[in-house]
Amino acid sequence: MTSPDAADREKVVSKLPPALQQALKVRAAQRGTDIQHAVEAGITAWRRLGANLPAADTGGAKPFATFLPTGQWDEFREACASRGVSLIQGLTQSVLFWLDTNPAPGVVRPEHPKRIIICNQKGGVGKTALAAGVGEA
Ligand SMILES: Nc1ncnc2c1ncn2[C@@H]1O[C@H](COP(=O)(O)OP(=O)(O)O)[C@@H](O)[C@H]1O
Ligand SMILES: [Mg+2]
Repeated sequence: MTSPDAADREKVVSKLPPALQQALKVRAAQRGTDIQHAVEAGITAWRRLGANLPAADTGGAKPFATFLPTGQWDEFREACASRGVSLIQGLTQSVLFWLDTNPAPGVVRPEHPKRIIICNQKGGVGKTALAAGVGEA
């Protein structure tokens, strides 16, 4: 979770399905932004939509907090009420909409693959653990 980048943001607490929280975190990083700006953009775009989106699955929603421009949350709450959706449903739709409209950028592969050798004459010193960790990273 990113801390506020300016005094004109306020902490908001709601709920989101854990898989969506994870997708949001990963996609924000892939897109070079952060969670608070992604959610802000998603809510803004959702509010501009002319029609209601189909109901999203909010099953298993867990507490979720972020920082939004002061006042955006109150306006969002009113928008949800006037559209007849719960706050969690509105937030879930907003985040899903942001994910849909901000796809993961293609992975750019280097021209030549990089080879890293991990060696040590001794056994049990972490060669495999290190190789697996570096590979995953
Ligand atoms: N940094 C570390 N700290 C604690 N335990 C580690 C660390 N790196 C590896 N281990 C543990 O040490 C054991 C041997 O590691 P492993 O990577 O299999 O060694 P190697 O491939 O060199 O034989 C494993 O149980 C692994 O989980
Ligand atoms: Mg090994």
